[in-house]
Amino acid sequence: MHLTKEEENILAGGAGNAAAKSMKILVALGEIYGAENLIPIRSVQIAGVSYHNLGDPGLEYLAELAEDGQVKVTTTLNPAGMDLENWKNLGISPDFAEKQEKVIEAFERMGVITCCSCTPYLIGNLPHYGEHIAWSESSAVTFINSVVGARTNREGGPSAIAAAMIGKTPAYGLHLEENREPDITFEVEADVKSLPDFGALGYFIGNNAKGKIPYIRGLKSASLDQLKSFGASVVTYGSKPIYHIEDMTPEAEKHKAPGESITVTAKDLKESYDSLNDDTGDIEFVSLGCPHCSIAEIGEIADFLEGKKVKDGVELWIATARPTKQLSDTRGYTEVIEKAGGKFACDTCMVVAPLKGRFKNVATTSAKACFYCRGKNKMLVKTGSFEQCLDAAVTGKWR
Ligand code: F3S
Repeated sequence: MHLTKEEENILAGGAGNAAAKSMKILVALGEIYGAENLIPIRSVQIAGVSYHNLGDPGLEYLAELAEDGQVKVTTTLNPAGMDLENWKNLGISPDFAEKQEKVIEAFERMGVITCCSCTPYLIGNLPHYGEHIAWSESSAVTFINSVVGARTNREGGPSAIAAAMIGKTPAYGLHLEENREPDITFEVEADVKSLPDFGALGYFIGNNAKGKIPYIRGLKSASLDQLKSFGASVVTYGSKPIYHIEDMTPEAEKHKAPGESITVTAKDLKESYDSLNDDTGDIEFVSLGCPHCSIAEIGEIADFLEGKKVKDGVELWIATARPTKQLSDTRGYTEVIEKAGGKFACDTCMVVAPLKGRFKNVATTSAKACFYCRGKNKMLVKTGSFEQCLDAAVTGKWR
């Protein structure tokens, strides 16, 4: 890979230890993937923030980088293992909280905006069409490539930090026009209307795309929240972190529908729902906001919960970014939700928080959350609309 004189100097240690380590990672990646050079990026989003995933070796690595490293571009974080202010309210242990705070302090010393969200595009880290960025979290990467048309690979935590330290990333993969072309068409005949319908569609397409880029036809409309849920699902179950929807997403018009084609019928959607749902019995835990809730979704939750109470013995979490929660405070939604017994889980979510063993099951609107809650946290899952999930929170039943 070609390096400029300045980049060679950084690699040789001329800009300090953290910058040299970071440049080493970028050069190694670039060489593995055949990149010709490094390209400037506009922003970074770093995953691997939860102490639950990092452990002590991860914390030590961050502390070392923080000694002389400073990020060069706008950089935000993926959800951490706890609500950074109200962790006690979510049943997090003081030992875990102490370690998680050290992780956040290390990022702060590096100049990172320590706002922890998988929807950075809703809270000010919003690139525009065609811009190069280096983001990590799979649903955020899929949304930003597909719906906005910015360009990023799905970075690992260390490569995202390295890109932030240098302000550049190797030019390969989804940064290059030729790698953004769709490989397989999905003709959607099924009626896809609600948020969980989009999750179930993502489940079907991800499973059948098998690592290819989908080109989707037949969808009449989709809201931003439906597309964020669809992207989270489609990438979790197997597609590359980009999709094109005819007459909807910005790069679709550049491409023809690929010849290899699969039709998505009402039966396929129903079978996807069946595969996503377990036989749970009474619901113990309801978690909404995967990806993190938008303010519109929080408004919907508050409307439903007005004058109702979460059933004793059921825990209800609303996962969102802290700035979105602050908006919810001023709109009066927070008061309604907390009065009903719901809890805000800012900066975190049910997948990255240390929840294993705490709940037998979870109800969620998210097909992505089904995958991780089953696999990582060993919970049984139900997926459905906000209304169904909130009904489960107040009755303990899935109806
Ligand atoms: Fe976000 Fe956690 Fe879901 S990071 S996409 S809420 S698994």
